[in-house]
Parts: sequence; structure tokens; C-alpha cells
Amino acid sequence: MTKVLFVCLGNICRSPAAECFFREALKNRKNAPLFEIKSAGTGGWHVGAKPDRRMRAAAKKQGLIIEGSARQVAVEDFSKFDWIFCMDRDNLDDLLGMGANADTTKLLLPFIHHETLDEVPDPYYGGEDGFENVVRLIHEATTKLALKLCD
Ligand code: 4NP
Repeated sequence: MTKVLFVCLGNICRSPAAECFFREALKNRKNAPLFEIKSAGTGGWHVGAKPDRRMRAAAKKQGLIIEGSARQVAVEDFSKFDWIFCMDRDNLDDLLGMGANADTTKLLLPFIHHETLDEVPDPYYGGEDGFENVVRLIHEATTKLALKLCD
């Protein structure tokens, strides 16, 4: 079983979307190995909250229901998960500063060799189109991640 954790700041927008889109991408693959997939935030402000309404609406337009209850990253996650994928550099720096393993804690977009972007932008203070762009980007990235981790 491969254990994968997606991390953003609040665990209410980007990482729960990545968790749900990645799970969906694996469902569409025959003979996918077993995965445990979770998400968490580096910050604790939204612990227990469900994903942001704007993110859920943007994902629903693409046919995906995003669910979850926000959780803060804990040091124990570093030994539990085989891969930890961060949405932006601040997330990555925070985890490395807490002692995460740099060999298995990575920025998501460079890991899947995204052509133009290194970071999944934080949509929280932006408008609806920010959310729709982020959903598209996460959908594309997690589909490629499924290909990469299943081969
Ligand atoms: P996320 O978005 O990191 O993608 O979940 C954010 C959620 C909350 C905040 C910032 C970003 N916040 O400042 O509360």
C-alpha cells in the first residue's frame, strides 16, 4: 500500500481537492495498486471544517464532490506517508522546517513535470475563476500523478 498525503495551508481548498481528484483518477485505472490518500494543512485555523464552499462549487462543475474535514499536519505524518505532495513553496519549506524527509516531500507540479508552473496558487482570497483554474490544474496534475505512481 502506498500512502500519499497532499498538503496546503488551510486544508480547505487545494489539498482536499487534490485528495479527491487523485482518488478519482485511481478509480479510472484498471489494476491500480492500493493507495491510502489523505490531506492536511500546515495551519490549524480551519481544523474540523469541511472544504471551502467555493472550491466545492468549482469541483462540482467538473463533476467531482469534494469532501473532508480539515486536519493540521503532524510530525508523525512524516514517517507514516510514502509521499507528501505540497501545493506551494511555503508549504514545502514549512514541512522541511518541521523535519520532513526531502526525498519524499515534494512540490506536486514539478514532480509531475508541469510545463509552466511550480506552484498551485492559493485561491482563498481571489474570485471564482481562481477556484476554477485551480480545480483544472489539480485535476490535470493528479491525473498525471496517478500515471506516474502506478507505473
Ligand atoms: P488552502 O487555502 O491552503 O488551499 O486550503 C487557504 C485556506 C485558508 C486560508 C488560506 C488559504 N486562510 O488564510 O485562512
